[in-house]
Amino acid sequence: MVYDTKYGSTEVIARWISEGMNNIEVKRASEVESINDYRLIIIGSPDYDDKPLKSISEFIEKFRDELKEKKIAIFVVCNDIEEAEYRGKQVGGKFNLDILKRELPKENIVLEEILGGVFNPKILDEEDQERIVNFFSEIGKSIKKEDLVFMPVMNKLDKDRCNKFISKLREI
Ligand SMILES: Cc1cc2nc3c(=O)[nH]c(=O)nc-3n(C[C@H](O)[C@H](O)[C@H](O)COP(=O)(O)O)c2cc1C
Repeated sequence: MVYDTKYGSTEVIARWISEGMNNIEVKRASEVESINDYRLIIIGSPDYDDKPLKSISEFIEKFRDELKEKKIAIFVVCNDIEEAEYRGKQVGGKFNLDILKRELPKENIVLEEILGGVFNPKILDEEDQERIVNFFSEIGKSIKKEDLVFMPVMNKLDKDRCNKFISKLREI
C-alpha cells in the first residue's frame, strides 16, 4: 500500500488497513523504489482542492508502465464524503475518486472507496489557511485567517466503513 498524508488522517486509515490485512507492505509514496514484488497496489491519498498530494501523483507517474500490469485499489480521504451539486457541477462523494482515477489506468482499478478524514482548521499551515480562506470567499463567505482557529474540527474518520473496505480488499 502506498499512501501519503499532510496532517495525519490518511496515516490513521493506512494503519487500520495494514492491521486488517495479512501480508501487506506499507510505504509513504516518496519512499517507494520498486513495485515489482506486488500483485495488488493499494493507493490512498487525501483530497486537497480536488487533487491528490503531489507525492502520490509523482508515484503514479514514476510507475506509469508497471501499474498497467497490476491490480489497483484506491481510496480517497476527504471531507466531502457525500455527493452534492455545486454551481451545476457534481462534487464530493464518488466524484472525489476522480482525483486518482484520472491519473491511473482505469481498467486496472478493481476496488475504490471514499473515506472521511479529519479537517482541523486549527493546525493548518499558512498555505492551507489561505486555500481555505479563498474557498470560503468563493462560496460567498468572508472569513479571515485569524478566524480559522475558532472553527470546529470536523472528524469524519469511520472505522466501520474502513473495515468494510478492508473486507473487500481481502477478497481481491
Ligand atoms: C487546504 C485544504 C483543501 C481541501 N480540499 C478538499 C477538497 O477539495 N475536497 C474534500 O472533500 N476535502 C478537502 N479537504 C479536506 C481533506 O481532504 C481532509 O481534511 C483530509 O482528511 C486530510 O488528510 P490528511 O490529514 O491525511 O492530510 C481539504 C483540506 C484542506 C486543509
